[in-house]
Amino acid sequence: MGAFPAGQRPSPTMSEHLNPRGPIGVFDSGVGGLTVVRALMERLPFESIHYFGDTARVPYGIKSVQTISHYTTQIAEFLLEKRVKLLIIACNTMAAVAAQLVRDLSPTPVLDVIEAGALSALAASKTRRIGVIGTPTTINSNAYARAIHAIEPEARLTSQACPLFVPLVEEGWLDHAVTRLTAQEYLKPVLAEQVDSLVLGCTHYPLLKPLLQEVAGPGVALVDSADAMAEQTAALLQKLNLSNPDRLPPEYHFWVTDVPLRFQTIGERFLGRSLSNVHVVQW
Ligand code: DGL
Repeated sequence: MGAFPAGQRPSPTMSEHLNPRGPIGVFDSGVGGLTVVRALMERLPFESIHYFGDTARVPYGIKSVQTISHYTTQIAEFLLEKRVKLLIIACNTMAAVAAQLVRDLSPTPVLDVIEAGALSALAASKTRRIGVIGTPTTINSNAYARAIHAIEPEARLTSQACPLFVPLVEEGWLDHAVTRLTAQEYLKPVLAEQVDSLVLGCTHYPLLKPLLQEVAGPGVALVDSADAMAEQTAALLQKLNLSNPDRLPPEYHFWVTDVPLRFQTIGERFLGRSLSNVHVVQW
């Protein structure tokens, strides 16, 4: 992978203007991308972050490509105005259908969870039989299959849309009989293909890890794109000399489009710590 992923080549003047002390911009359709923020906070404790969650318009996973592309552009432009040095598309659905759009408009490098997840899936798989689960839009886009086949054409993929997982996670039913039954049903056709790794291709699914591991069994490695994303971010910042040289407490800001209180309550579950500096953006 090049310094600027997926064919993105900013002019020298653009990269000169990137400030290592600037924040990282992370965005998602709602609260789920905080799983990526959590991994980033742990891996890169001196990097400031501006997070955008489109809580007024979530869920994206059942919307059209056109609508998602429009929303994604709006959010990327908002974060670029905050002078972020790097944009991270934490939402699998946005990454699946609008990653190129963001790369085309962004003067800063762009990373997305699908690229990160594809690389980790291949690293985790011995048999090259890989399962992918995600929202209907992500699965229908075939983005994971394309990303994995671009690296390993021989890989055999089995994909499954799991639309009920997002509401179950938001409800906090992380270890609930209803969620277990739902997971058994969704994973049945995937497990029948003898996959040895399963990509959790949605921001919400890392919270279901223990339950999904139980259902999938010990022979299936669960690939969490949040961890993969944090590793890829660390490597890219270092490569581009964009790591923050200061050893000061970082600043975190959270921008949402609706109901900040609910964002805060559910967000703390995703983040695993308390959350402040939540601002409402009125569009
Ligand atoms: N953030 C979305 C994803 O990762 C899940 C929630 C939604 O459907 O908007 O695909």
